[in-house]
Amino acid sequence: MPPYGSLYEKTLLIIVGRATRKQYLPFMIHGTHNALADDRNKDVQILVNGVLYPRNEAKISVFDSGYLVGDGVWEALRLHKGVLVFLNEHLNRLWEGAAAIKMDLPFTKEELTAEIRRTLDANQMFDHVHVRVMVTRGIKKTPSQDPRLTLTGPNVVIIAEHKQAAPESTKKGIRLHTSTIRRGAPDYLDPRLNCHSKLHEVQALIQALEAGADEALMLDTHGFVATCNATNFFMVKNGEVWTSTGQYCMNGITRAKVLEACARFDIICKEKNFSLYDVYSADEAFVTGSFGGLTPVVEIDGRPVTRDAHQLTNQLRKHYQFLIEEAVQHGQ
Ligand SMILES: Cc1ncc(COP(=O)(O)O)c(C=O)c1O
Repeated sequence: MPPYGSLYEKTLLIIVGRATRKQYLPFMIHGTHNALADDRNKDVQILVNGVLYPRNEAKISVFDSGYLVGDGVWEALRLHKGVLVFLNEHLNRLWEGAAAIKMDLPFTKEELTAEIRRTLDANQMFDHVHVRVMVTRGIKKTPSQDPRLTLTGPNVVIIAEHKQAAPESTKKGIRLHTSTIRRGAPDYLDPRLNCHSKLHEVQALIQALEAGADEALMLDTHGFVATCNATNFFMVKNGEVWTSTGQYCMNGITRAKVLEACARFDIICKEKNFSLYDVYSADEAFVTGSFGGLTPVVEIDGRPVTRDAHQLTNQLRKHYQFLIEEAVQHGQ
């Protein structure tokens, strides 16, 4: 449990812990999003619609469209050595998501970047920082889906925290469980959309936790392997790196960087359809995300994945780190 937990947070964690199974009590979390505890986070300033508030005073209305109906889009990015790495990619994805849900953004990418910077400066942040940018359609007149009942422009919340991935996640690796919850077709809720409702993924994760795993592996509507609930999935077979076609998963920035690294460092990488049939005889497997980078998968559905001691995964992690350093040198 984070040492900065307020009484409210602690009570919530206990309730959540009681309502779920013992094996995934919140203070024993192990997975790709496991962070080192950092006391400084109890005092961070959070930006809500242009105003900085101390953590405990940062609030959003109960009439917020994101709260009411999951109507909003978000990004999570990293600050490395003072640089918001892959910023353009993150901003492009946010703008694409907003266009997909027809949410007009009354500010430019430069203006949003300035707001992120203001939040980082207010918190004197430089390295190992995770930034969550959330944009919802706005305040509704009454609880409703109807966008015409939105009274204000978008609500913009920026949460920056000192968050370093726990080395244990990379060292120990994670265990996946295949969920029965599928990634939907693009004409339902396009799985590439990073929207405020993550209930689909939460349900998949709960199944995985109930099964004693750390995260969920999710299939597409045809039964091919698509992705994980909060990261993208890769496997290695006979020296080749495979990932899904990208049509049924969030188009992760880290996923794109792994594909780029494979192209630059002459590693064969294929975006293709494959099934659990292939996964169960994979030589290696790993998942990707901005927070944890590349995390090895050591078990899938109770079957160990340790054949190649994650050699290629470790090599790719170094290549990914190289791309980050390169981005830092170029200032983004
Ligand atoms: C469902 C899902 N897949 C994959 C990712 C990883 O994306 P990225 O590499 O851009 O952090 C995320 C991150 O939020 C996610 O929510």
